[in-house]
Amino acid sequence: MLADTEELRRLYEDHIDRLVQSTGTVLVEHGLDALVISAGTPTPKSPFDDQDHPFRPTPAFAHWVPLREPDSAVVIEPGKRPRLVRARAGGFWDAPPRVESHHIWRALDVVETPAERVAGELPSLRRAAFIGDDPARARAFGFPEAAINPAALVSALHALRVTKSDYERACMAEAGRVAATGHVRLGEAFAHGGRSELALHLLYLEATGQDDPDTPYKNIVAQGENAATLHHVGYDREPRSAPSTSLLVDAGATCLGYASDVTRTWVRGEGGAADAFAELVRRIDALQQTLVAEITPGTAFEALHDRAHELLAEVLCDMELASAEPHTLVENGVTRSFFPHGLGHGIGVQVHDVGHRPHDPRPDNPFLRNTRVIEAGQVFTIEPGCYFIPSLMDELRARPAAADVNWSAIDALRRFGGVRVEDDVAVTDEGARNLTRPAMAELLSSGSDRAGT
Ligand code: GLY
Ligand code: MN
Ligand code: MN
Repeated sequence: MLADTEELRRLYEDHIDRLVQSTGTVLVEHGLDALVISAGTPTPKSPFDDQDHPFRPTPAFAHWVPLREPDSAVVIEPGKRPRLVRARAGGFWDAPPRVESHHIWRALDVVETPAERVAGELPSLRRAAFIGDDPARARAFGFPEAAINPAALVSALHALRVTKSDYERACMAEAGRVAATGHVRLGEAFAHGGRSELALHLLYLEATGQDDPDTPYKNIVAQGENAATLHHVGYDREPRSAPSTSLLVDAGATCLGYASDVTRTWVRGEGGAADAFAELVRRIDALQQTLVAEITPGTAFEALHDRAHELLAEVLCDMELASAEPHTLVENGVTRSFFPHGLGHGIGVQVHDVGHRPHDPRPDNPFLRNTRVIEAGQVFTIEPGCYFIPSLMDELRARPAAADVNWSAIDALRRFGGVRVEDDVAVTDEGARNLTRPAMAELLSSGSDRAGT
């Protein structure tokens, strides 16, 4: 947790000042003189049920204030201090939501009001817009349809999310540190064997001090062949004690609403295929660090994604998993069978942050979520992988390019599922600062017992 220090208060004030300026410009450009950003309303799990999903504020609200308070709103009027309207729920069923940190109060004007009286705290609606996931509430407030989530305004506000403030980077670095405690703890537990995927998931939550709804996305915890399912969240309940296997953990943490997104792949066992898979993990880890070192402001993220395919082709050849020239493996789509997803995505108050795909990627990179030109201030993930996904292996085997693949070596590795290595990086004027690795390295060198959250 980031301590509530004078430094954090100043960082937050600067963050709010920056938002006031940039949002003010957007409002003027859109002919508006007020904006109401709603925290949103709990959503029912099903119309046939009386339970709600755990409440998450709208990302637009989280960009301003780290509070999980339904029906609250931030009101922005150019030339005025931003105003936080805190809605107080009545009744006796729920306690007020926990405030994660008190560094925020100085930066905004704050009013508290019963939830049903929020309308009375809103500005004149003549030239105002409403952003939120509860349009029915906006209608009840009197916003005309055209003023509720107008597409051009939403898109302009999303663009403001692409470069991060120092405050946001500090939150994400802390979220990375917390995630690192979980990853290191799971690496140690896995080395001893005998735990199920569910047990490892629960251990991660314990190590990071997070409840499941606090995590930025459902943890992916996959042992052995399950690592070939990119979003494996249906955890096995049976402990695994096989002397040699793998564990892929893709799990993050949140700090003040900001996410980290981190993946590590661990190997247990020695000899034969386990050694080969451990070598593949080392190679993908090195490839990932090469890509981070090559991040340069002014180049397209898609070019870095293409570079990942070139480097992967070299790994496949070096390890004798494939035998053609590396560029042929890229051109024939062989690397795409082993690495089908995008190299990375923007990250912030959403783990797949908005605003990073201003245009579609090339058709051969359909899942790439970041098509921006790299610029200082951006924060994104770098997450190359190499997997043995049965459906993609079958597809590849049926193509002429299959002749370039060493299938007996591939088949020996299938039971390890695959490897992904993922860090979050902040782009600087010169290159990139890794928000994940320093914390991970410190924990690995000092022993995770010292690594409380
Ligand atoms: N954890 C989801 C992703 O890596 O994009
Ligand atoms: Mn990711
Ligand atoms: Mn991830």
